[in-house]
Amino acid sequence: MTLKLSVVGTGYLGATHAACMSSLGFTVIGVDTDAQKIAQLSRGELPFYEPGLDTLLVSEIKTGRLTFTTDFSAVADADVHFICVGTPQSKDGLAADLTYVKASVAAIAPYLKNGSLVVGKSTVPVGTAQMLRDQLAISAPHADLAWNPEFLREGFAVEDTLTPNRLVVGVANDRAETILKEVYAPVIALGTPWIRADLPTAELVKVAANSFLATKISFINAMAEVCEAAGGDVTVLAKAIGYDPRIGNRFLQAGIGFGGGCLPKDIRAFMARAEELGAKQALEFLREIDQINLRARQRVIDVVRADLSEDLTKYRIAVLGATFKPDSDDVRDSPALDIAAQLHAAGAKVIVHDPKGIEPARKRFPTLAFEEDVRVAVKDADAILHLTEWKEYRELDPAAIGQLVKSKFLIDGRNMLDRDKWRNAGWRVHALGRTD
Ligand code: UDX
Repeated sequence: MTLKLSVVGTGYLGATHAACMSSLGFTVIGVDTDAQKIAQLSRGELPFYEPGLDTLLVSEIKTGRLTFTTDFSAVADADVHFICVGTPQSKDGLAADLTYVKASVAAIAPYLKNGSLVVGKSTVPVGTAQMLRDQLAISAPHADLAWNPEFLREGFAVEDTLTPNRLVVGVANDRAETILKEVYAPVIALGTPWIRADLPTAELVKVAANSFLATKISFINAMAEVCEAAGGDVTVLAKAIGYDPRIGNRFLQAGIGFGGGCLPKDIRAFMARAEELGAKQALEFLREIDQINLRARQRVIDVVRADLSEDLTKYRIAVLGATFKPDSDDVRDSPALDIAAQLHAAGAKVIVHDPKGIEPARKRFPTLAFEEDVRVAVKDADAILHLTEWKEYRELDPAAIGQLVKSKFLIDGRNMLDRDKWRNAGWRVHALGRTD
């Protein structure tokens, strides 16, 4: 008989996982405490922007396999329960806040049937899975717990769930692995590497991967700082070192650095956990990675001040991009929005444009000015800051934009615009990490 699944927490990760598991043929019940979110999802509306997931959600609901509810007792029928709730940075420190993870496991415990498996997917500090498993041994001894970290990237969430580059499962026994193999059978059949680990290793894989990615980005941004000091060009440097297959050319895009709901908080939580474990020194370097990352934002502000004036109150600055990366409406810890807000706080008149992120950005910074039309956003600007590399910004016509602004000054915070094209249209262009 086909397994029945529940997905607890229907945010980015949970909504994606629920729709994707349904598309594999499973009956899936998505549960969340947020009634508004559940109502929206039940109507087939996605509460966030993710390419391809909107249509998948609608088609899976139509099959009748995928349903959503706020009633936790609805999980009673399911054999496997995926925990997909958030683990944000806690308000009083660097550590991850485990409130939602603990509450979810406690909420489903009374309804777990004999032999069912709880599978954590949330990113958690190492040791959490064992702690939850111990708790479950008391509240629902007939159930088991495994950990199955998720590596999905926003903008590629469906692809990364259905055709991931690996599946990692942390299990305490063969039975848990067998159940997970049954769930992921269609994905395994594609040749996806399967890695069985113990619970702590599975938890660590996720934070290690994100720490490595963050390190790669901060490494190239550190090189950008050196290039600026030495008169070099970081884009050429990145291309040249990237040809070495041991280094690789991906995640070497220098610019204003990483943001989003994962990388920044994951490296901080990892440091906090290492300290608790007595391994603080091992992850000291991540503090530097974080610092380099935040410095990249400051460098843009420094360039603006150096070029316009220390006193920004008379200047109008158009910011292109609010989301932490393109093809997403996520503004969590967005470097672009952070820079916009800092310039605004410094007295500049800042107008922010973004193809998808204006509403979430407005919620976060209601005092910033937003414009839906890029041509209106740049009108009479003293400087344009390109901070999120949406495709439509690469397609802008520098000559036409030049007619609208007050001063043809562009800062490319992502090193993605064609500098020659802009320069040929009479623009002064400053790109991070490039001195010519
Ligand atoms: C990340 C991980 O990639 C994913 O595996 C994990 O599961 C969740 O966290 P995501 O947050 O969607 O995914 O974003 P990602 O594509 O990794 O980009 C993170 C940030 O780094 C973005 O702000 C992006 O603009 C920045 N970045 C990325 C760079 O500045 N330079 C690069 O070369 C690559």
